[in-house]
Amino acid sequence: IPVDSFDFVLFGATGDLAKRKILPSLFHRFQIGQFGDNSRIIGASRSQMDRAGFQDHVRDALETYGGATDKEAIAGFLDLLDYTPVDAKGDGGWDVLKSMLREGEIRAFYLSVAPSLFGDIASRLKSTGCADDDSRIVVEKPFGHDLASAQALNTALRAHFREGQIYRIDHYLGKETVQNLMALRFANSLFEPLWNSSHIDHVQITVAETVSTEGRGGYYDQSGAMRDMVQNHLMQLLCLTAMEPPSKFSPNAVRNEKLKVIEALEPVQPENIVRGQYRESAAGGDSYRDHAGNPDSRTESYVAMKVEVSNWRWAGTPFYLRTGKCLRTRESEIAVFFRKPPHNIFGEDNELDANMLVIRLQPDEGIELRTTIKDPGPGGMRLTGANLDMTFADSLPDSGSQDAYERLIMDVIRGNQTLFMRGDEVEAAWAWADPIIHAWEESGQAPQQYDQGGSGPDDSLLLMHRDDRRWRPIE
Ligand code: BG6
Repeated sequence: IPVDSFDFVLFGATGDLAKRKILPSLFHRFQIGQFGDNSRIIGASRSQMDRAGFQDHVRDALETYGGATDKEAIAGFLDLLDYTPVDAKGDGGWDVLKSMLREGEIRAFYLSVAPSLFGDIASRLKSTGCADDDSRIVVEKPFGHDLASAQALNTALRAHFREGQIYRIDHYLGKETVQNLMALRFANSLFEPLWNSSHIDHVQITVAETVSTEGRGGYYDQSGAMRDMVQNHLMQLLCLTAMEPPSKFSPNAVRNEKLKVIEALEPVQPENIVRGQYRESAAGGDSYRDHAGNPDSRTESYVAMKVEVSNWRWAGTPFYLRTGKCLRTRESEIAVFFRKPPHNIFGEDNELDANMLVIRLQPDEGIELRTTIKDPGPGGMRLTGANLDMTFADSLPDSGSQDAYERLIMDVIRGNQTLFMRGDEVEAAWAWADPIIHAWEESGQAPQQYDQGGSGPDDSLLLMHRDDRRWRPIE
C-alpha cells in the first residue's frame, strides 16, 4: 500500500547507519513503488557537500549495502535526493533546509546522530520553523545509558515535540517474526488459554550472535551487552511474550500492556545473573579486551539472567534471557516450555517430554512446536518426539522479506507508533536495568571469560542446572 508523499530529512546522512540501513531501506521501498509521487529525501549533516556529491555517496551506499543493480531504479531514487550541510549546534544551514521543505507534505526528521545532539536538533527544528505540530521526529538508539540520561533525552525532545510525534526506534520491533509473535498469540485461540504459569514451565529468550565487537570498541566498552541488547531488544521480546492481550492493535493499547510487564519485573538478584567476556581464540582471534583497546575492561559481551514477572499470569514461571557476541551461531529465538503432562499412562519405559513452542526470529524465521507421538511401526506403544515445523520461507515463499528498517520508516510516514517505544517504556526499562548495572560497577567483578565460537560462559549452564533446567543448545 503506497504511503502519502513526504519530505524525509535525514540528519547524519553521511554516517554509518544511514549508509548501511536507512538509505538502502528507503531505496527498497521506493523500488517496489511504495512512495507517494512527490516524495523527497533531504540529506543533512556537517559534511560540506552538494547535491551531486550526496547522490554519489548514496549510489555507492545502495550498491554496496543495498544490493542495488537496477540502474533505472537507482537513477529514479537519486532524483528524489537533495542535500544541505547543517550545523546541529549553530545557525548554519537551517534557513536553507527550511527553504527546501514544502508546505502541506508529511515531514519526517530522522536523527541518525549521537544522542547528545537530539536536544539541539529538536530545538532548532522548531525554532526555525522546519518542524510543525504534525511533523515526526525519529531517534535511534542508544536512548540514554541510564534512567537519568533517558529522562533528560525525553525532556529535551518533549520540550519541542508531542509524544505522538516522537518515534524511538528499536529495530527488533520491526522484525517480521517479532510481529508474528503478536499474531500467533492474539490471532489464534489455541495458545492464549495456555499462556500462563499454570501451563508454561519457563521461557527462554536467546539472541546469540557470531559477530565480535571489533571496530566498535569505544561505544561498546562504555555500554556492554546489558545496555546494548538487554535493556532494549531482549526487553521488547520479553514484553511481547509476557504482555496481556491489548484491547486493540493500536499504539497506546499495545504499549500500555508492554509497560505493565516492565513494571512487574522483580529486581534481579546477583546470583541470577551471569556476565561473560570472550577471550582470545585458540586460532589467534583477538579477545574482547583487544577489540575494546582496554586491557582491564570489565565490560560484558555476554549476559544470561533469570527474570521474574511478578503478576498473576506469570508468578512461578521464570523467563531466562541470554545474549552474547562471538558465539557459535547467529540464532535468535523465544522458546516456550510447557509443563509436562500431569500423569503418564504409558508406563515407565516411556518418559514424557514437555511440549515446547519455539518462535525462531532469525535466521530461518519460523515457528516450531515440539510434540510427542507414537513411534511409527511395530514394537507396541513407544513414544517419540516430533516437530510441527513451519519455516516461513517454505510456507509463504512469495511473501518476500523486508528489513526491519523498511517497515519502521514506512510506519513513521503512516504515523503509526505501534512498533516504536514510548518514553515511559524506555524509562521503565532503564529503571529496571540501572540497579543491576550499578551493582556490577560497585562490585568491580570481572565477567567470566568464555571461548569464542562456543555457547557462552560455564556459569550460564549452572544458572539453569540450579533450577533443574537446561538451555536450548546454540548450534
Ligand atoms: C544493535 C546492537 O542494536 O543490534 C548490536 O547495537 C547488535 O550490538 C545488533 O549486533 C543486532 O541486531 P540484529 O538485527 O543483527 O539481530
